[in-house]
Amino acid sequence: MRALVLGAGGQVGTDLVRFLLGSGHAVAMADLRPAAASAAGPAMAALLDRYGAGDRWHTADATDATVVARLVDRYEADTIFHLPALLSATGERDPERCWAVNMESLRGVLDLCRARSSRSIKVIFPSSIAAFGPLPGVPGGYPDGVASNEIGLLPSTLYGVTKVAGELLGAWYAHRGWADFRSVRFPGLLSAAPPGGGSTDFANEMLFAAARGETSIQTFVRADTRVPFMHMDDAVRALVELAQAPAAGLTRRAFNIAAISPSAEELAAALARRVPGFTVRWSAGGDPRQGFLDSWPRVLDDAPAREEWGWHHQFDLDRLIDDLLGAIRSADAHR
Ligand SMILES: NC(=O)c1ccc[n+]([C@@H]2O[C@H](COP(=O)([O-])OP(=O)(O)OC[C@H]3O[C@@H](n4cnc5c(N)ncnc54)[C@H](O)[C@@H]3O)[C@@H](O)[C@H]2O)c1
Repeated sequence: MRALVLGAGGQVGTDLVRFLLGSGHAVAMADLRPAAASAAGPAMAALLDRYGAGDRWHTADATDATVVARLVDRYEADTIFHLPALLSATGERDPERCWAVNMESLRGVLDLCRARSSRSIKVIFPSSIAAFGPLPGVPGGYPDGVASNEIGLLPSTLYGVTKVAGELLGAWYAHRGWADFRSVRFPGLLSAAPPGGGSTDFANEMLFAAARGETSIQTFVRADTRVPFMHMDDAVRALVELAQAPAAGLTRRAFNIAAISPSAEELAAALARRVPGFTVRWSAGGDPRQGFLDSWPRVLDDAPAREEWGWHHQFDLDRLIDDLLGAIRSADAHR
């Protein structure tokens, strides 16, 4: 694969770049921030040095179509991972920028693929559980096991609107034969890199606090909050496996992918079993992010991804927590 990773400096991008380089793929990267200021910190610059890829990191704006076109041509990219986004909580605070970054940069990439349609460039787009929203007239929201072809995509955040619109726009470009667009709806992602302003950040904050030995933390969610989560290693592997899946086997352009769905209280209890004295002070509700979380599916059905391109998760809750507590402590020790 000759990959161009846009938004390479974020929580997903830094681990995706590590995975792609480690798997022997050719990788070029772009982000508004330099490698050393990425979510992985100076470790990112060190990683690039190790692979001789330091000059393939470009501090650039993905909404500038001319810049992106230059990078696609220079590196003869056959796969573009489109990651730049303002996430759910940040996007509500700055809707204009959310639309520009999430939608305009995607449209620019798709137009670029159209202009080079003979090369059949793949565009891999992480959508989100935020593409779902409250079901009108259905208190309690979605039943558990929300399917990939669920049609009630009525998000309550602008972020979610850009994810639904991105899925639909990409599918239309694919239908016209202009871009090989493929998308996964990610659950909340957990990793050793700080998260970028989403509503599922409460779980990352609990993990970081427990790893650092903080025994009493305040969170912005209720104890019974339940949404799907996934270890970042599973998530980046999903992006790469979907990119590599033979087109003939795919019946759709957007797939649910799922792993675990612990409640916030179950997550806290699993941390307390490893960090003696770890306790969480729960919110009574009221934070706007609680409303977003309540509007998302609690459990996703990902049967089409499993059947059509062999998706499977590797991290259950216990393995995920053990791995990430160790990874956060190790990253802290090397800072
Ligand atoms: N992290 C999650 O839990 C999660 C869940 C579902 C979907 N996703 C999706 O995965 C993708 C990556 O998310 P993330 O968690 O890494 O986000 P993040 O905020 O950590 O990273 C986004 C990166 O994009 C960069 N960026 C922003 N505007 C840019 C621009 N104009 N040009 C170039 N770079 C720009 C930022 O500097 C940042 O490094 C997003 O599309 C997001 O919607 C993430």
